[in-house]
Amino acid sequence: MKYLTEFVGGKNWGEYAPLMKRLTSWQHWDICLAALRDIKREVLYKSHIHGGGHIERTVLYGSILAMDVCLPPEDLRLLLLCCSYHDIGRVNDLVDDLHGARSAAKAEAITGLSGEELRIVMAAMEYHSVDDRLLEKVMEKHSVTEKDRCVRIAKLLKDADGLDRVRLGLLDVRYLRNPTAPGYKPFAEYVFSLTGNVF
Ligand SMILES: [Fe+2]
Ligand SMILES: [Fe+2]
Repeated sequence: MKYLTEFVGGKNWGEYAPLMKRLTSWQHWDICLAALRDIKREVLYKSHIHGGGHIERTVLYGSILAMDVCLPPEDLRLLLLCCSYHDIGRVNDLVDDLHGARSAAKAEAITGLSGEELRIVMAAMEYHSVDDRLLEKVMEKHSVTEKDRCVRIAKLLKDADGLDRVRLGLLDVRYLRNPTAPGYKPFAEYVFSLTGNVF
């Protein structure tokens, strides 16, 4: 079991080589690679299920989904911060709707964001662990004004996180929200087979 950062740009990806070529040739790949390398591992929840391996894969899937929708770089950075730190509020590996809100409460200190960017990230983090129907309510709670940006980032985060449900054998692609996301299930299974449940 290895960390993605050790091989993501160099590995022979076999049948997924065209996908990874597309990603590593994307004009914003540098942002994605920096996000992977800059993950503050010391603040992550220590767990085989929700720890470093899961977080790296979520950043990878977030990058790919963002590429598919041509997410602008300023929003890509926010999305990948969400992917990196959405689970830092975990206190166990159980079903827990409130851990996203606890992650959001730590977002300012860990990301250094402020203003609307911080509000968007906090709302997306909180939303990732609650029912899809609560998005409007969560955005109101965090006083988000740029709601279109927030909705897009929040749904990309949920799908990036959701794709790694393959590690639990619990991914039902019908619940994914972005049109291209379901097609990545086999890729997510492959990536999990390479990386596994590392901390
Ligand atoms: Fe989570
Ligand atoms: Fe997660």
